[in-house]
Amino acid sequence: MSVLIDGKALAAKMRGELREKVSKFREEKGEIGLAVVLIGEDPASQVYVRNKIKACEEVGIRSFSYHLPQDCTQADAEALIGELVLSERVHGILVQLPLPAQLDERKLLRMIPPAKDVDGFCAENVGNLAMNRETIVACTPFGVMKMLEEYGIDPKGKTAVVLGRSNIVGKPMAMLLLNADATVTVCHSKTKNLKEVCASADILVVAIGRAKFVTADMVKQGAVVIDVGMDRDENGKLCGDVDFENVKEKASYITPVPGGVGPMTITMLLYNTYIAASRR
Ligand code: GUN
Repeated sequence: MSVLIDGKALAAKMRGELREKVSKFREEKGEIGLAVVLIGEDPASQVYVRNKIKACEEVGIRSFSYHLPQDCTQADAEALIGELVLSERVHGILVQLPLPAQLDERKLLRMIPPAKDVDGFCAENVGNLAMNRETIVACTPFGVMKMLEEYGIDPKGKTAVVLGRSNIVGKPMAMLLLNADATVTVCHSKTKNLKEVCASADILVVAIGRAKFVTADMVKQGAVVIDVGMDRDENGKLCGDVDFENVKEKASYITPVPGGVGPMTITMLLYNTYIAASRR
């Protein structure tokens, strides 16, 4: 039986601490602002954006919310982002992904200066992470590191396996674990002996977007299992990439879905926005 890593509780604690820091910052230097840009009508994105704006309010960060239509042109999107780049009131810019197909995502994201890139997506911030230098770190993997720290799990010298190689989660996760002195393997859809590799992990982080993909036979007894997935099971119920009910019997620590990594992602966005404002 494993210990549940309670992301919801840690997120609440961190938001409480942030509220105080933001309030002090406001008294000394003024308001902290986050621009949240939603383009199009993707239902999941609408929910994420709403939650991000709500979370800003909770900690006293001013949010500037923009919604461009699904058929918006590249020029319209560039005009908006260009304005936000120049705005003194905006310390962080978040462009919710995915974008409608007619837009050049790379070009739009490249307009955001590294200092305002609170998602930690730009090449300079990713490069700094790779070189273990001060940077802004992508919210989800950063949240995972905070969870490990909170539960006294030190990756140093441990075997860490990251399942998934996305730019948003898998790759930055692997770099963070490497920077924390773990021995890191990144697995993906072409990996051979996937089961064996996963079963070698002291720390297993799963971010592939496939419901209950990681079964108990893929997990070492006593492993720490972090589930970044947000999927639906065969009954339409929210679940993760890990077969939680069975894996929890083998893991020493495990994150639930919901209530695990999810609440930490938005918290780290708030944290990154505070950091961006502090460094200006
Ligand atoms: N879409 C899915 N995850 C994210 C995220 O962390 N940031 C942004 N901007 N878009 C996303």
